[in-house]
Amino acid sequence: MSLPILGIESSCDETAAAVVRGGRDILSSVVASQDDVHRKYGGVVPELASREHLRRIVPVVREALERAGLGFQDLAAVGATRGPGLIGSLLVGYTYAQTLASALGKPLVPVNHLEGHVHAVFLEAQQKKNGAARGDLPELPAVCLIVSGGHTVLYDVRSAIDATPAVEGYPAFRCTYERIGATRDDAAGEAYDKVAKLLALGYPGGPVMDQLAAHGNPQAVAFTSPNTRGNRLDFSFSGIKTAVLRYIRQNPAFEKEIAARTEVLRRGARKAADLLPLSTPATLDLVASFQRAVVRDLVQRTLAAAEERSARCVLVSGGVAANSELRKTFEGECGRRALSVFFPSRPLSTDNAAMIAAAAYPHLLAGELAKEGVDAEANLPLA
Ligand code: KG4
Ligand code: ZN
Repeated sequence: MSLPILGIESSCDETAAAVVRGGRDILSSVVASQDDVHRKYGGVVPELASREHLRRIVPVVREALERAGLGFQDLAAVGATRGPGLIGSLLVGYTYAQTLASALGKPLVPVNHLEGHVHAVFLEAQQKKNGAARGDLPELPAVCLIVSGGHTVLYDVRSAIDATPAVEGYPAFRCTYERIGATRDDAAGEAYDKVAKLLALGYPGGPVMDQLAAHGNPQAVAFTSPNTRGNRLDFSFSGIKTAVLRYIRQNPAFEKEIAARTEVLRRGARKAADLLPLSTPATLDLVASFQRAVVRDLVQRTLAAAEERSARCVLVSGGVAANSELRKTFEGECGRRALSVFFPSRPLSTDNAAMIAAAAYPHLLAGELAKEGVDAEANLPLA
């Protein structure tokens, strides 16, 4: 049973389509980023995002099919993100998917974007297994940290595999989810983007700050870990953003270099290499210290969750999962605890549609299809 599924993702600012066979083999994955559109605002502008999705959805889907070498009629189903996300953005992708599935007479599988991020980890683990012996797949129960520009949330992920027969010897990763912690204010990626805006380091801020941090001293500026009273598995990142703002205001020397970087960004500079020569040790130390504090907080709370839930492994997904220090710290800390940790590759960490098609697969097998008249939902809960 090959079951190729067309995945469609449009929850935020990436228009994406992919074809994944059997929940495992990525035949194509196309992502049209809108970074250029939102860059000058330093964050996603919802109205512009939906307009861009409308412009791009048809060519992106066409390209995904072309690259997969398949026609619409070859598809077993369409899987599309129904939520959570920006409602205008979601509606473009989900309504398109509803119309397409109905015109083709194919099943439509509604997918929760956050379940997609969890499946990005399973999908990645299965990529490495192609042609090789299996044995290094994530074992459940797991604790999954989803950390991106829109989300910072911890799930206890358990197997519901007994309910679904394995296909071609591969598990369908049919899971149940329990939300055990979440940010009370900003998402971690949002904090990166806001600090990058304060320091004139471009948009999105994470990738550039990740590289600049390597040139600074992470112990230079002390940030206190937020106290999330009531649930130690909750997060809070608005305090550190405010602390950075205060630090910049107290050090007027920052002004000159911020102005210089603003100017090179205006002229089109994007890379860390362009910004590094315009950044003093004080800025690099601030960036490194910010990153150290955010990473330490994410890792400590996730490991506390893993211990509390007796997890057999840790899964980390979402745009910030691409962060090199986050990966290194998780690997070191999990290694010390004989706990395995799994990340998606960078292209599967950030928003993409391959993870949506993969997440749709177990639902398709279980016959969990879209209901007539049920539309996209901005606050769709996973658990
Ligand atoms: O998952 P994603 O593509 O979109 C959503 O927000 O859903 O994540 C984008 C976020 C941005 O905030 C970006 O700054 C952050 O992920 N990001 C990173 C890195 N790469 C992307 N943050 C820290 N380090 C990185 N290497
Ligand atoms: Zn996402």
